[in-house]
Amino acid sequence: MQFVEANGAKIPAIGLGTSELRGRTCARLVEQALKLGYRHIDTAQVYENEREVGEGLRASRVRRDDIFVTTKVWTTHFAPHDLERSTKESLTKLRLTEVDLLLLHWPNPQVPLAETLGALAHVRKLGMSRHIGVSNFTVALLDEAVAACPEPLVCDQVEYHPYLDQTKVKDACARHGMALVAYSPVAKGRVKGDATLARIGRDHGKTAAQVCLRWLVQQNVCAIPRTSRIERLSENIEIFDFELSDEEMGQISGMGSAKGRLTDFGFAPKWD
Ligand SMILES: NC(=O)c1ccc[n+]([C@@H]2O[C@H](COP(=O)([O-])OP(=O)(O)OC[C@H]3O[C@@H](n4cnc5c(N)ncnc54)[C@H](OP(=O)(O)O)[C@@H]3O)[C@@H](O)[C@H]2O)c1
Repeated sequence: MQFVEANGAKIPAIGLGTSELRGRTCARLVEQALKLGYRHIDTAQVYENEREVGEGLRASRVRRDDIFVTTKVWTTHFAPHDLERSTKESLTKLRLTEVDLLLLHWPNPQVPLAETLGALAHVRKLGMSRHIGVSNFTVALLDEAVAACPEPLVCDQVEYHPYLDQTKVKDACARHGMALVAYSPVAKGRVKGDATLARIGRDHGKTAAQVCLRWLVQQNVCAIPRTSRIERLSENIEIFDFELSDEEMGQISGMGSAKGRLTDFGFAPKWD
């Protein structure tokens, strides 16, 4: 496993995304992923699966210290008191004393950003999370957050895959010493049928999805692919035994555009 270092955090480059995984399926996938060598699990309050993620963590019998657990505070809990209370609830559901990374899930213009960041830094000081960060923050919001936050932010978790150019956010993260964590890293499954990725994969004996994930980690980006299929857990982590050439990296980067975004929850910030 490779790691991405960011403002004091050491984040395993591949993690398991868990949105939409529920109940026993979720607990089983988390357990299996950890048994297969995953060391990074991504959940969120709004996924309503923190309890099952916690069950999977315990069932795996992997040492807690060896696992990097991220959860995210939902936007309705951004008032300082709510942020602290909801983080305590997350920890209770996960049955953990602390998470490794606590993120603001989306920007919320209804609550002053500095207040929310102050509360986020405070819960870190209280020992509820080892690190803090943000998600779905544009470059402008990221610059504002870094300036306002009393503690270092370690990542911006944003949508990133070969169809979406994220050069600006990636550069901003690098400027601030932060990691970019790519969500929807296999473009919600769309990369599977991609002719360019499949062709590059044939030369390396890898699948299109593996080429896509390799392209991400080779940029020093973390990726958190989700799967509900045990066999794909191995596929998505077996990407550390080959390397893409500069030319192959360039070909894949050339597929991206500003219009390639797949996530639109209707309350997204203005990205450009
Ligand atoms: N911060 C945010 O606002 C935010 C937003 C979205 C997502 N996320 C996080 O990022 C994680 C991943 O994003 P995502 O779930 O949107 O998309 P994703 O991981 O790009 O795609 C998941 C889909 O791709 C399929 N898939 C996975 N591996 C595959 C492979 N090797 N070959 C072919 N298909 C494959 C899965 O199907 P099967 O189940 O059939 O394998 C699933 O339908 C989420 O689970 C969540 O933890 C965060």
